[in-house]
Amino acid sequence: MPVFLLAIESSCDDTSAAVLLNGKVLSNVVASQAVHAQYGGVVPELASRSHLAHIVPAVDLALQQANITKHQLDCIAFTQGPGLLGSLLVGSSFAKSLALALKKPLIAVNHMEAHIMAHYIEEAHIPESDTAPQQPFICLTVSGGHTQLVLVNGPLQFELLGETRDDAAGEAFDKAAKLLGLPYPGGPELDRLAESGNPAAFKFAEPKLAGWDFSFSGLKTSLLYFLQKQTPEFIEIHKPDIAASFRMAVIHTLLVKLEQAVQHTGIRAVAIAGGVSANRLLRKEILRWKTEKGHRVYIPQMAYCTDNAAMIGITALYKFYRNDFASQSTTPQARWHLGTAIG
Ligand code: KG4
Ligand code: ZN
Repeated sequence: MPVFLLAIESSCDDTSAAVLLNGKVLSNVVASQAVHAQYGGVVPELASRSHLAHIVPAVDLALQQANITKHQLDCIAFTQGPGLLGSLLVGSSFAKSLALALKKPLIAVNHMEAHIMAHYIEEAHIPESDTAPQQPFICLTVSGGHTQLVLVNGPLQFELLGETRDDAAGEAFDKAAKLLGLPYPGGPELDRLAESGNPAAFKFAEPKLAGWDFSFSGLKTSLLYFLQKQTPEFIEIHKPDIAASFRMAVIHTLLVKLEQAVQHTGIRAVAIAGGVSANRLLRKEILRWKTEKGHRVYIPQMAYCTDNAAMIGITALYKFYRNDFASQSTTPQARWHLGTAIG
């Protein structure tokens, strides 16, 4: 049965709208918000206002690029959480109004589940990656707000193995970039700079937590103390080396835990998801596991790493199959744990 879905993502600072025909993405429009750059981070109130300005044009463009009208839609999906409450309210209110006006069902989606579910989009993966995930696999979900190790038993079937106790990996990259005076958004900037640096130049204290949880605040503090001891000239000259060494420490920490989870569970299939899965070093290292360790590795295309509505759409598709619809009284959830049902 062909299912046309419109999905809306507005959890943080990207307004995105996508149209899917079953697992195939017909359009995936992302309007990023430049307004935050001057403040060096996302300003929630400005994010909400910017979503308001972008949402109608983004949805219009998504429908136009998919070459369908809104009347052909079978369902409207939106990000219910986790995220910034004001931002979520814009997307959810828009989705609810549209569903009401068109008399179409509504589906509420968990953003962190959606990052993982992006692996079920047709043609989600880069050509060198394994495709069409076979279950079970272990997903390392690394974004600006979360760092999670998740056992994926199938679409919408998740078991949280571990997560960060403090800063998320993306947050660590963003904070480190800020300390280095790099422009917002810091993670991709630090990644770019690290490409020309020596990852063995400096040593930062890598967190060593027992079990499956992560911690990145100590690593960030280690960079802060290191920088406080240097002169501005030294920092300027060695910036690429500092970025490369810091990036190595974060990625190495993530990879060690992921490999431990593989060994512990015997599941030799891994996926990466979320904004930090766009990181060049992480992608390169994971890809090596395919040839060197013989693991199955799932690496998403860049468009499906950072926030996008297509991942909300694919999650909604599986909820649609289960008749898992949301009511008009559904409200956004700023905090929402993966795998837990909410009302
Ligand atoms: O998933 P995402 O787009 O939004 C959230 O759900 O948080 O992730 C954004 C995070 C930011 O912290 C950003 O700096 C980080 O992903 N990020 C990167 C890279 N691209 C995005 N971090 C390191 N290297 C990158 N290339
Ligand atoms: Zn995200």
